[in-house]
Amino acid sequence: MSEQKSFHIVTYGCQMNVHESEKIAGMLCELGYKSCDEMQSADVVVFNTCCIRENAENHAFGNIGMLKKLKAEKKDMIIAVGGCLPQQLGKAENLHAKFPYVDVIFGTHNLHKLKEYIQLKRTQRKAVIKVEDDEGSIFEGDKPLRTSYPNAWVNITYGCNNFCSYCIVPYVRGRERSRKAENIIAEVEELVKKGYKEITLLGQNVNSYGNGTNELSFPELLEKVANIDGKFRLRFMTSHPKDFSEELAKVIARNPKICHCVHLPVQSGSDEILKAMNRKYTVEDYIKKIEILKKHVPDCTVTTDLIVGFPNESEEDFEATLNLVKKVGYSSAFTFVYSKRDGTVAAKMPNQIPEEVSKVRIMKLVELVNSLTRDQSSGYVGKTVEILCEDFDKKKKLYCGRDEYGRMSYFESNNNAIGEFVTLKITKANGISLYGERV
Ligand code: SAH
Ligand code: SF4
Ligand code: F3S
Repeated sequence: MSEQKSFHIVTYGCQMNVHESEKIAGMLCELGYKSCDEMQSADVVVFNTCCIRENAENHAFGNIGMLKKLKAEKKDMIIAVGGCLPQQLGKAENLHAKFPYVDVIFGTHNLHKLKEYIQLKRTQRKAVIKVEDDEGSIFEGDKPLRTSYPNAWVNITYGCNNFCSYCIVPYVRGRERSRKAENIIAEVEELVKKGYKEITLLGQNVNSYGNGTNELSFPELLEKVANIDGKFRLRFMTSHPKDFSEELAKVIARNPKICHCVHLPVQSGSDEILKAMNRKYTVEDYIKKIEILKKHVPDCTVTTDLIVGFPNESEEDFEATLNLVKKVGYSSAFTFVYSKRDGTVAAKMPNQIPEEVSKVRIMKLVELVNSLTRDQSSGYVGKTVEILCEDFDKKKKLYCGRDEYGRMSYFESNNNAIGEFVTLKITKANGISLYGERV
């Protein structure tokens, strides 16, 4: 009997991509492959790429380049590259020219056809290069191989209509479309039945769910999902501040399954920069939204995304960002240096900021964010929290999990606690990590 063939997937980018890699894994299982941890021994290697920033792209390019030697030794190995990078205009051809040993190139709109492409490649010598311009209708036949038990991700929208001036996502993910509520609810019901304990609803802007259709609004959908029987936690990302409503705050307040932690990317604390970014809110609008959220959910924590070095960003603009971060007191934040993306409006703006300036700014910002996170962490010592155990940290030899605010805690356990809700007394804080004992 021949040994079962195996696959290995390398994922870059956002949660959406992580989940899409689970869908890719599902398809490869259907083709008879099994998952393996070692790229060197895999029969199929898939790179699920990201192009949100230049370094995400470079990272993927570098890793694909490193496979040249391996492919020369293992001629039957199939290398596939998909996701946002090849979806950009002209990039698939670019990739093919640069890495002629890549066997399959596919985009974001035809990910569900990867099975077909791999089968096709097995019958022909020529590379299979398929990138579709049109997003078409939503494909509902995914059978993801979920790898993050007890957490599970569920798409509610695909694509984005916002065209923030710096962002490539609308170009590589197409126009926003919402899944039917009945399909979303059925998927969550099934996951909860299977024992998943944390469900995260995914979309580039979940708050605009259902726009332009007769579907439910996002708060309505969220409440329906929260009403599904069983003990589980519910999260959602990402919320665009312009569409964050009081109705949503009320839904969070009255449904105990919804975590009191909202990711609300602000990007900048300067009105002028926000305008140039096409974010469609002012700093004042944003603060008002947070006030509304806190009015209904006083213990709600807020996390955010921030960009420094957007074209024309002055020292004053940057100071305004620091001030906003202090004012809101984020529990954590993803911080990025602006990266020029060809084809976006901001790429053509004058006064691109020199790298040295952005570097200084990002360091200051990271320091501020870390100090906020550290202060909040030390405030946890002595408190009792309920966490959902999600993993065993092999290095630390400790189990770990998050509370509803998303904070990671480590603890000892004699039994395998993964998937259990565990009550911990926090005994120590170290940077962003907390350590506790079971009570
Ligand atoms: N749809 C989500 C997330 C988009 S990508 C949202 O609107 O919040 C995640 C983050 O990457 C963005 O929030 C933004 O902070 C950052 N980002 C997007 N394009 C970028 C660029 N060109 N340079 C630097 N950061 C960028
Ligand atoms: Fe990009 Fe803006 Fe859409 Fe988010 S909302 S994906 S930042 S265009
Ligand atoms: Fe996500 Fe990167 Fe694409 S952030 S949507 S994988 S460009």
